[in-house]
Formats: sequence, C-alpha cells, structure tokens
Amino acid sequence: MKRKGAYIAFLLAAFLMPAASLAEDKAAPQQKDHILVAYFSRMGNTDYASDVDASSSASIVLREEERVGTTEAIADVIVQNVGGDKFLIQTLAPYPEDFQSLVDLNHREADDNTRPALQNTEKNLSSYDVIFLGYPVWANSVPRAVLTFLETHDFSGKVIIPFCTHNGYGPGKSVEEIRLACDEAQILAGFDISSEQMQTAEDAVTSWLEEVWNALPQ
Ligand SMILES: Cc1cc2nc3c(=O)[nH]c(=O)nc-3n(C[C@H](O)[C@H](O)[C@H](O)COP(=O)(O)O)c2cc1C
Repeated sequence: MKRKGAYIAFLLAAFLMPAASLAEDKAAPQQKDHILVAYFSRMGNTDYASDVDASSSASIVLREEERVGTTEAIADVIVQNVGGDKFLIQTLAPYPEDFQSLVDLNHREADDNTRPALQNTEKNLSSYDVIFLGYPVWANSVPRAVLTFLETHDFSGKVIIPFCTHNGYGPGKSVEEIRLACDEAQILAGFDISSEQMQTAEDAVTSWLEEVWNALPQ
C-alpha cells in the first residue's frame, strides 16, 4: 500500500507537468512496471483475410500502412502518454469476420451470459496498480470476453480506468457492467469516442488523461 501511494504520487506529479515533461517522464521505469493497458478489439480476435482494409471493415484503422483495431489505436495513445504494458484480451476461438454473423453471435453470447474462453490467462496482474481497460461497445454493452478477463483476475485494490470506442451510440451500460463484474476495484470515469472521430482522437485522449490522472486515489 505504501509503495502504491508513493507510486501514485509520482504519477500525479508527472501528470501535472506540461506535455513536454510528460514525454520525457514516460520512459521512467516505475510507470512501465505498474500500468497495464488491456484492451479487446475485433482486430486480433478475428481471422481477417489478408486483403481486408479500413474501407472494407469499420473495425480497422490504417496507421502508416499498418492495420490496427480502433480500440487498439486508443490504447496506443494511452501508452504513448503514460507508458505501461499493452495487453490484448484475446479469445481462444476467433470471432467471425462477417459483421452480421458477429452481431448474431454477440446476441447469443449476451442472451446466454457466456464467458468466452481466453488465451493468455496466465498473465500476472499482481504488479499493476492501474489498469486501463479498453473495448468496443457491442450492443450497448462490453463484449463478453471483457467480462471473462475481469472475472479471471484479482483486481482487489487496483484502479480500473475504462475506455471504449463505438459507432456513435456511446458507452451504453458498459461501464456499469464493469463495475458489477469487478466490485473489488475502484472504477474511475472512463473515456469514449466514436470511430468517426478517430482523426482527432489523440488530442481528446490526451486531455482526458490529464483529467483522469487528477482523479486517481492517493
Ligand atoms: C457486434 C457489434 C456490436 C456493436 N454494437 C454497437 C453499439 O451498440 N453501439 C455503437 O455505437 N457501436 C456498436 N458497434 C460498433 C463498434 O463499437 C465500433 O465499430 C468500434 O469502434 C470497433 O472497435 P474495434 O475496431 O476495436 O473492434 C458494434 C460492433 C459490433 C461488431
């Protein structure tokens, strides 16, 4: 607990500095050791054909010719600003590439209250104090795989900071679902962005990070 207090004080100090100092500080080893940026995204959970691109799937952002998921693009901005380890929440079975098949499967998973099996369940979260948790909004909710992730690990005493992407309908009940699945953690106010606003995401995420850092418990 003492170590956590000192660490959070360090982060607060870093966040109250101007952006230039932040960039210098983000390489500090303390930050990298304690922040996890965990995210779920269609990219990384779908066997996309090798020629699929941003024009054929709404879930792909092109970044310097590299294909990344929409939620992953936000995860990357967070890591650029505060450091931390990036972690893809990945199901054992990939999701269908066809959009309507995925919508149907997600409805079945929600109706059955499924917890899809995950890869990398041995990931050790004990050293992380702050967990950014990213996901696309699926049917106004979190994808069920995010609930599997929350129920697989012990989040006691940790701070979870949700962030999500969507197609304009907002986070829905997703943050409430995270709270219900994980009442042992402190859940801070999250960030959401429409996939149509990805061009300005970097500025929006940076402003939000400054706010949320001030709300971290001491
Ligand atoms: C199964 C499914 C359900 C979705 N439900 C919603 C929704 O309820 N509201 C919304 O605004 N967008 C919805 N979307 C759109 C995604 O949230 C959006 O495209 C997101 O940015 C994709 O992120 P990703 O590329 O990281 O997977 C849905 C997409 C899928 C595939």
